[in-house]
Amino acid sequence: MAERRARWGLLSTARINERLIPCLRRSERNELIGVASRSRDTANRYAEEHGISKAYGSYEEILADPDIDVVYISLPNGLHTEWSLRCAEAGKHVLCEKPLALSVEEVDQLLEAADRCGVTIQEATMMRFHSQTSYVRNLIAQGAIGEVRMGRGLFTFTLERPGDIRLDPAMGGGSVWDLGSYCVSFARTVLQAEPLEVHAAQTTGPTGIDMSFSGHLKFPSGAFFHFFSSFASFTQIDADLLGTAGYLHLDLPWVNRENQPATVRLVSEAGNKEASTFGDGLGNRRTERRVFADVNAYQDEVESMAATVLDGADPVVTLQDSRANVAAITALYRSAREGRPVVL
Ligand SMILES: NC(=O)c1ccc[n+]([C@@H]2O[C@H](COP(=O)([O-])OP(=O)(O)OC[C@H]3O[C@@H](n4cnc5c(N)ncnc54)[C@H](OP(=O)(O)O)[C@@H]3O)[C@@H](O)[C@H]2O)c1
Repeated sequence: MAERRARWGLLSTARINERLIPCLRRSERNELIGVASRSRDTANRYAEEHGISKAYGSYEEILADPDIDVVYISLPNGLHTEWSLRCAEAGKHVLCEKPLALSVEEVDQLLEAADRCGVTIQEATMMRFHSQTSYVRNLIAQGAIGEVRMGRGLFTFTLERPGDIRLDPAMGGGSVWDLGSYCVSFARTVLQAEPLEVHAAQTTGPTGIDMSFSGHLKFPSGAFFHFFSSFASFTQIDADLLGTAGYLHLDLPWVNRENQPATVRLVSEAGNKEASTFGDGLGNRRTERRVFADVNAYQDEVESMAATVLDGADPVVTLQDSRANVAAITALYRSAREGRPVVL
């Protein structure tokens, strides 16, 4: 007998769907069934262009279809919670784009609904499914750079699409919700800790959202993590971590393109420390590189979702984990608004 597959529907015709569609097609455990749009014409056109068998002319229609097990929510941020809740109530599992919610209270509603309706709701933070992220987390846990003292992340680009959902305050726009959320999730994941206190500053644009944001997190171990997210800068994507015994650099921590390998560089002491008057010796160092080529974290994301839905495997990103990320982000926004540190 053929193994059961998870049957997927796409909620919206968003551009990000392009990443998941080939993965669902390649997967042996998933099957793409349908796509829903606010407009029937758009749904029909999209389904035809992408060879998807069912087109739904409203979001409600996908919820009513018994052939759909999992809904991928790729709506603007401000609609994530509402539609995750509606999917759960309809008995559908949910893979929802990041950020899952815009407040801790919204995540609490999702926790309650997932539990009551017996469905999985998982945030699609692609980076968390990438083997590079678990590799770095394990290196740190094994003490490869000693005790972590600080980390830093950059995620920036120039947003040149007027009317983009990222600029709309009513839709959860802003550089932190869009970009900085990865940096916060990365810091929490690799340090395996939650921030105690945050401090932030922002530059807002004409629509009121943060165009550039500088966030600072302090962890219980004493480690600091600083990130900068921006819609108004040269594109830069990287992260690093400095510890008592080494340094890690990631050149592509939070994007994933199949033809673009990501490299983790580990610099540590080789043998005895070089004697130096001011402790500034840079000799006796060893550099190791680990290259992640041919990784498709979106593939890992959909396979992981299938394992959760079909086998009852634990989700990679639990709702409690998403809750902690949202708590840190909302504290950062509050700090930037009020111009003072915020204790979590
Ligand atoms: N994981 C990643 O790597 C990654 C990368 C990029 C974006 N994302 C996330 O994916 C989500 C979608 O981003 P995107 O850039 O792909 O979005 P997009 O292309 O702008 O599409 C958003 C879709 O939402 C639907 N929609 C419903 N109400 C809307 C409204 N009031 N205004 C605009 N669109 C509305 C539209 O679909 P219909 O017209 O068909 O209804 C639209 O196509 C965001 O949450 C973003 O954070 C994730």
